Amino acid sequence: MTENFTNFIAGAWVAPRTGAYFENRNPADAGDVIGCFPRSGPEDVARAIESAQRGFARWSQTPAPVRGEVLHRVGDLLTQRKEEIARAMTREMGKVLAETRGDVQEGIDTAHYAHTEGRRLFGRTVPSELRHKWAMSFRRPIGLAGLITPFNFPLAIPTWKMFPALLCGNAVIFKPAEDVPHTAHLLVEILLEAGLPPEAVQLVHGEGSVVGKAMVEHPAITVISFTGSTETGAIIGATCGRMHKRLSLEMGGKNAMLVMDDADLDLALDGVLWGAFGTTGQRCTATSRLVVHEKVHDRLLKMICDRAERLRLGPGLDEKTEVGPLINEEARKKVEYYVGVGRDEGAAVLIGGERATGQGLERGWFYQPTVLGGVRAGMRVEQEEIFGPVLSVIKVGSLDEAIRINNGVKYGLSSSLYTRDVNAAFRAMHELDTGITYVNAPTIGAEAHLPFGGVKQTGNGHREGGWEVYDFYSETKVVYVDFSGKLQRAQIDTEAQIDTE
Ligand code: UN1
Repeated sequence: MTENFTNFIAGAWVAPRTGAYFENRNPADAGDVIGCFPRSGPEDVARAIESAQRGFARWSQTPAPVRGEVLHRVGDLLTQRKEEIARAMTREMGKVLAETRGDVQEGIDTAHYAHTEGRRLFGRTVPSELRHKWAMSFRRPIGLAGLITPFNFPLAIPTWKMFPALLCGNAVIFKPAEDVPHTAHLLVEILLEAGLPPEAVQLVHGEGSVVGKAMVEHPAITVISFTGSTETGAIIGATCGRMHKRLSLEMGGKNAMLVMDDADLDLALDGVLWGAFGTTGQRCTATSRLVVHEKVHDRLLKMICDRAERLRLGPGLDEKTEVGPLINEEARKKVEYYVGVGRDEGAAVLIGGERATGQGLERGWFYQPTVLGGVRAGMRVEQEEIFGPVLSVIKVGSLDEAIRINNGVKYGLSSSLYTRDVNAAFRAMHELDTGITYVNAPTIGAEAHLPFGGVKQTGNGHREGGWEVYDFYSETKVVYVDFSGKLQRAQIDTEAQIDTE
């Protein structure tokens, strides 16, 4: 019998008030049902919020270094259970085991970084302009953080949000993507096992348009962090703007790899295969455009097609598999639609362009790795995010043109340049309009201890990861202490501070 999973609300694993559930199936084998998960409603969200308020009152009083200790234990438990979680994640969302192990590792790294941040969480002490007056800032927790996360990094992305939010003393309400509720369940189990006070975390499963919406619209949740589509981000942004909520958005990408005529083509080949077809192209950071210098264009394209055609598709749990399925049928239809758009726009389908079948692949949402040649700047397949294993190849005559093309989209998450010319590399660092640029590496490969995020319509100016995310989840408070024993007026009594005797 299929197991019914529950929400975690008010310190207990509980069934949704709606009584409704949805099925979670393995994308590599649609007949494999992982379990049924709550299709929660606004009432479940309201209960979670009430409980989180109690959780916040206690957790925010726990000293930050001690909060850090809890996250340290979370990191250790994730390490112990890494293989089990990676396997569950592959079964749930399809990417290959090496990648789901990497996903768990990113969560471990984020936990251990958060642990040490508990003993920093710096404020600043700065000189006052007046004598015998002390001036400093420190951080305070904010309150309840609503975290809405995507399917493609079912563990890492929730930890990017949850661990810094908790370390800063906030309580969190977590709404994972409908495609990956099981990994979310395992993560919350680990938080509890590590000793997090139960009301500091609430897990509410369900649809974005119901649960996510209720969270965003509830006045008691004052911080929202969302990773997902630019369209949904715009709707969330409008509500948060109206309600004066703090909001971090991490949205679409149309990342390009630029390969110049002096590049090491073997290196670029390995990079583009990993960047374009890793995670079946379902990363915000995926390499979805290849911008190649005309002098090496034909050669590199042939090298790519030869190798990409031989990539081994299959269930991610099979260690020999190189490319797993797409997340669901809707995602596959979107890829099919865009390949059709590319054809109509005059692009050539050099390899792929079909659903993948044979050897059991018809049981899942498989699509062949696809390379579109003859793509020109401005085509829809060059401009719009496809989120699948489709690489659009654009030929250019110079670095200037390549940079122009990179910057000619509405997104700006990640970019990469392959060259041996140090001047070109430094120019790219400054001129590529993205939050992250790689030199001689593909557009993916962000590390947990550096800020992650993009410019333009990829984000709204905030960063996840690294040190910057701690600014997002804390409120800065400033304190002045005047110990002169008299009234001193800032900006006015400053002249008198100079001793001219
Ligand atoms: C995402 O693409 O959604 O750099 C996150 C990377 C990963 C994180 C990606 N470490 O590709």
